[in-house]
Amino acid sequence: MICQQIIRRFEEIEYPIKHMSKTAKLEIDGKSYSLPIIEGTEGECAVDIANLRNESGYITLDDGYGNTGSCQSGITFIDGEKGILRYRGVPIEELAETSTFIETAYLIIYGKLPTHAELRQFSGLLTENENLHEDMKYHFAGFPATAHPMAILSSMINASSCFYPGLMAGRNPARFDIQAARLISQVRTIAAFAHRKSRGLPIIYPKPTYKYTANFLHMMFSDVYQDYELKPEVVKALDLIFLLHADHEQNCSTATVRMVASSQANLFACAAAGVCALWGPLHGGANQAVIEMLQQIHDAGDNGSRFIAAAKDKNSGRRLMGFGHRVYKNYDPRAKIIKRACDQLLNSLHINDPLLDIAKHLEEAALRDPYFLERKLYPNVDFYSGIIMRAIGLPLEMFTVIFAIGRMPGWIANYKETMADPKGRISRPRQIYTGQTLNHYVPIDQRG
Ligand code: SDX
Repeated sequence: MICQQIIRRFEEIEYPIKHMSKTAKLEIDGKSYSLPIIEGTEGECAVDIANLRNESGYITLDDGYGNTGSCQSGITFIDGEKGILRYRGVPIEELAETSTFIETAYLIIYGKLPTHAELRQFSGLLTENENLHEDMKYHFAGFPATAHPMAILSSMINASSCFYPGLMAGRNPARFDIQAARLISQVRTIAAFAHRKSRGLPIIYPKPTYKYTANFLHMMFSDVYQDYELKPEVVKALDLIFLLHADHEQNCSTATVRMVASSQANLFACAAAGVCALWGPLHGGANQAVIEMLQQIHDAGDNGSRFIAAAKDKNSGRRLMGFGHRVYKNYDPRAKIIKRACDQLLNSLHINDPLLDIAKHLEEAALRDPYFLERKLYPNVDFYSGIIMRAIGLPLEMFTVIFAIGRMPGWIANYKETMADPKGRISRPRQIYTGQTLNHYVPIDQRG
């Protein structure tokens, strides 16, 4: 029985942004343009260029959007210079210490920490929606065993929505809670089934008595004849990994989700697009790339020094994976938390992973090296997360899938915020054309 549907609107808690009396002056061709300045609740300021082209005929250009805000959002705040990360104002350090992934998911999506009753209801919705439609197994059967689980994840999220035509139709806020719960719950089931399929193992169904992360480990590692032994420290470590990945402002994949949501595509289509954007090695794929890098260093008998030299050499095509960040010009607060959790988990499991020693050596060496210091390159969330996932026994190709499971609440919250925007404009960036000027068709016989 689906819990009584909570009629919710897409309302977002209004955050006071200030339209400053200050304006920016822009001089072009002897004409002066006055552009309004807006200030967010944490004092970030932006020049509002919404009317720039109408007034001046000019647009702005910002490769990689390093200086361009695509939206106003009340979900996550990052201060990259100070290494601050807060979900709905709550510091990541407090959530990591005292919360769980599902409680934090509720905070990110609904804008407040849940009461006991709200958390019970949310958890109940997740449990009610944890199974895939049984016919989905025919889709799994169609994938080769070598299929990358990120490819399976993105396609199966869309495939899953085909079984709920009523739920997905139109922009009905009342359906949002079920859509969100179904997506958060099923992304975990799809991921585990994809892993089982890749190993030629029978799928293990979720247990309604298990909490979110324990259920995922159960579906990943149990046998038909014997349940996986859930070690509390392992469940806690993976739950922390999910929590730390839950949202992160307008990163590449979240910005992709908002872009797709702006066309009023359904939530599952937006999430599937987010999975594809996350897959790249410069983004969510970095956690897999870090382990491959550490393994390569280990196998070469290098203590990391040779690799660091290569990472500094532009011609090497190498980067110190897990280092650097577009926003953090300080230590990623998530990396600090994960590094500590790494030590705790490996000690409690009595694991001595040489790759962790290499990672620590790389960090020490890089943080003494002017190349990295001058460019403000510090460990990011991906630098140590793979060590924990290895210790848990997760296969390398599942690392970015773990990131996607963790990021799902952030994508859902950004989808909700986009849909709640009363202006609701489709995102459509401009460009500067640099191609062939006016040209004409030439019949094929006259072409050189
Ligand atoms: C995530 O946006 C988010 O919030 C993302 C994320 C999230 O939670 O969603 O935090 C998750 O994606 C973390 C990042 C994971 N990716 C990696 O670890 C891959 C390695 N890092 C880089 O490729 C890079 O640092 C990025 C992609 C993370 C950021 O790239 P930018 O901001 O475009 O920086 P850049 O490429 O312009 O680099 C600036 C300079 C360049 O040198 P110069 O041309 O100035 O001489 O720094 C150098 C770069 O060559 N540089 C590196 C480097 N990262 C940047 N040199 C060596 N190793 C690196 N890792």
